[in-house]
Amino acid sequence: MKFSVSSEFLEELRAKSDLVSVASKYLTLTHRGGNYWARCPFHNEKTASFSIKDDGQFYKCFGCGESGNVITFVQKMENVDFLTAVEILAKNAGMTLPTSEQNDEMRKQKRQRDAALQILKATTEFYQQNLQSNPNSEQAKYLQSRGLTADTISKFKIGVSLNFDALPKYLKKMNFKEEDMYMAGVVGKNEYGYYDFYGGRVIFPIFNGFGEVVAFSGRSIEASPDHTKYKNTPQTPIFNKSEILFGYNFARDLKKQHMLDSLVLVEGHIDVIMCHQAGITNVIGCMGTALTNIHAKKIKQLVDNVILCLDGDNAGASATYKAIDILKASGLNVRVVRLTLAKDPDEYIKKFGKDKFLECLENSVDCVDFILQDSAKKYNLNNNADKTRYINEALNYISKFSTPAEQEVYLSAVQQKVKIPIDALRQSLKQPVKQAPSTQILEESNDAYKDKFIYNAKIMVLAAILHGKWQNFDEISGFFDGDDELSDLYANLVEKVKANKMLSISALFDEFDIASNSPIDKVINYNFPDDAVFAKMLADTIKRIKIYILQQEKDRLIKLTSATFSEAERYNYLLKIKEIDEKIRKEKA
Ligand code: UTP
Ligand code: MN
Repeated sequence: MKFSVSSEFLEELRAKSDLVSVASKYLTLTHRGGNYWARCPFHNEKTASFSIKDDGQFYKCFGCGESGNVITFVQKMENVDFLTAVEILAKNAGMTLPTSEQNDEMRKQKRQRDAALQILKATTEFYQQNLQSNPNSEQAKYLQSRGLTADTISKFKIGVSLNFDALPKYLKKMNFKEEDMYMAGVVGKNEYGYYDFYGGRVIFPIFNGFGEVVAFSGRSIEASPDHTKYKNTPQTPIFNKSEILFGYNFARDLKKQHMLDSLVLVEGHIDVIMCHQAGITNVIGCMGTALTNIHAKKIKQLVDNVILCLDGDNAGASATYKAIDILKASGLNVRVVRLTLAKDPDEYIKKFGKDKFLECLENSVDCVDFILQDSAKKYNLNNNADKTRYINEALNYISKFSTPAEQEVYLSAVQQKVKIPIDALRQSLKQPVKQAPSTQILEESNDAYKDKFIYNAKIMVLAAILHGKWQNFDEISGFFDGDDELSDLYANLVEKVKANKMLSISALFDEFDIASNSPIDKVINYNFPDDAVFAKMLADTIKRIKIYILQQEKDRLIKLTSATFSEAERYNYLLKIKEIDEKIRKEKA
């Protein structure tokens, strides 16, 4: 929940701030088929796929997946935080923002963010100055030895720290508070006081999408193994490594100049820097962390095509598989390069030159092809059991990642490897993995099916509640226990229904962080079939949920039965299990 203003105030504000009229200040809207349409302001497109429903509650872009309400719209268009967007809209609507402790808290956070940005800016300049005035320092020599040019050093604002005490003194002289320096992650604290967090290291600033420095990565110049190679800024009010992509600010600039149609994703920031130095500028990297959905969403805002070029080692290989999953889920086209003759792009370019590296990118393979080839290496395709495993794995990826037309192409690739009739493969592919599994399947201990069923059932039930089609909460009590997003949404909706409050989609955007393709996004944009069909599907699902809950209880009792040493207790459990079996039988009848 991210409330800071009362829900009543927000409700009135949204009612008075019509999304259509607010959006038309920024976009050219045309009315067609019950929706307003415009070219999406959040990604580059030629045809309009940004839409607002007639009721004006929320917008959704069918191209990039962005969705939200009038408040998130203003946030994104004006690049401001939630509270500022509320202030802008309130002013327009002639409403006065109530003051509250929570608003004070948000303002305090804003002050902190501003202070942190200023400190990072001053610190960057300090490190750059160190480098300029000390060209013979060990740190400066390290930069030379890695072959970084003066242009690169200035473009990436690279600098050096020479010791542990100069930085805190310098910042103090500039009137920054020590607590703020600590909060911003540039100094550490020990029994002697504050010290430069990156003391003695070579400093690579990390930029946010607007090119502001929000963190540092300090490379040790000592080779000793007890030295962490890169010391990175911890989580701060302005830096979250699972959201930042190194090089994203430059990619955004390219996009503005209409010079970007794909991005190359590499592992380290040195790789990004060396690619830039070689003149390849559509390159970004994660900050020493696994790729997240947020990263993927940010990439999708700029491009539709990504080339994965992670390190050549085993870690890089498994990271490639994970990244493919995440990037595909965000709707990106993904191609893969696996470097074999060098460990990373930096080393590759150094050894073989820019043109050879561009050739690697040129020869990148589509991610499904990559998986089909790569996973074939794990199996002995002359052995029947192995062959079956390979087919299952291959078909799984094909069904997950490709359109029907693409499927045909991939199937023939598999067919050539396994030499069984393509019709058989086609048939297996059509097996109803995507359909709701029958109760029979649910009782078998097939966890994948179970998880999928539970997930789909939750989405369906929540969509039904949100759109006023169902509210027999008692029937499925316990089904939404847990601490995931969907359980939070369920609790939120049930509470509103019980308090007789209106269920509004647009309120959800203020209460949850809703990423495109996230579970809550799926609930909001649930594609209802016609009423009669849905009623039947829902009844069927509720029935399965009840059986599932009973089955869970039965499993629990069975465990207790085998754990107890008391005959009387055992007998009692068995009686209860019998009762449950009876209930399950009735549900199925
Ligand atoms: P690498 O170990 O491949 O580093 O880690 P690199 O980029 O090749 O750096 P050099 O060439 O040895 O200087 C890949 C990325 O993982 C993160 C950094 O972002 C690095 O670029 N990393 C690595 C850390 O954050 N901390 C570490 O201690 C090591
Ligand atoms: Mn390297």
